[in-house]
Amino acid sequence: MHPADGIDQEKRLAAEAAALLVDDHMRVGLGTGSTVSHLLPVLAARRLDVVCVATSPTTAALARGLGLAVAPFDHLARLDIAIDGADQVAPDFWLIKGGGGAHTREKIVACAAERFVVIVSSDKLVDRLTGPVPLELLGFGLEATRRSIGSDAACKLRSAPPTPDGGVLADYTGEIEDPHALACRLAATAGVVEHGLFPPRLVSEVVVARQGQVEHLYPTSSPT
Ligand code: A5P
Repeated sequence: MHPADGIDQEKRLAAEAAALLVDDHMRVGLGTGSTVSHLLPVLAARRLDVVCVATSPTTAALARGLGLAVAPFDHLARLDIAIDGADQVAPDFWLIKGGGGAHTREKIVACAAERFVVIVSSDKLVDRLTGPVPLELLGFGLEATRRSIGSDAACKLRSAPPTPDGGVLADYTGEIEDPHALACRLAATAGVVEHGLFPPRLVSEVVVARQGQVEHLYPTSSPT
């Protein structure tokens, strides 16, 4: 089997396991990405009475096409569960998300969820976060914001269309010595709409598939 097929199979297994965590009448946050694209048909096939919110137009369209009810995320205050992929998962459960540029909406949805479930293939488990860290920036003052973050080299603009919220996508490419310190610094930088560092306190569990087996990993303590 080609290694990419093995990884895709792991994503599918993790997604299938997470779909079983959804029950009737739940309000469900749907993430974005290739792992979530495996979740959607399995969830739809369960024919549960659920209301979903989607973290991207792509996910919304896929989910609706499969018959899932997708509501706008303006009047719902809380979600029962949110399920999403990740780019990297560190041993202390810090995450990097936003490879697909949806991290702002993904973080809002994760924060609103009673239970935030991260679904990954085994290659996403890393010894330490290495970046890049996705950023969404305001167009207004863009160069000033980049300068505040570091040098041009430390904040590379993506050649990507604006986000659905009109933001500019970029990546922080500097060192991640301390994820908490970097997350605080980025969050405190004017012009940064959101960054892709997700703290352990947001994570309820990580569902990871490795060579045909699914494991559920739980943060034991959530200092940040
Ligand atoms: C989307 O912006 C990201 O946060 C994705 O959730 C993350 O990049 C994982 O994507 P895959 O499931 O495609 O690996």
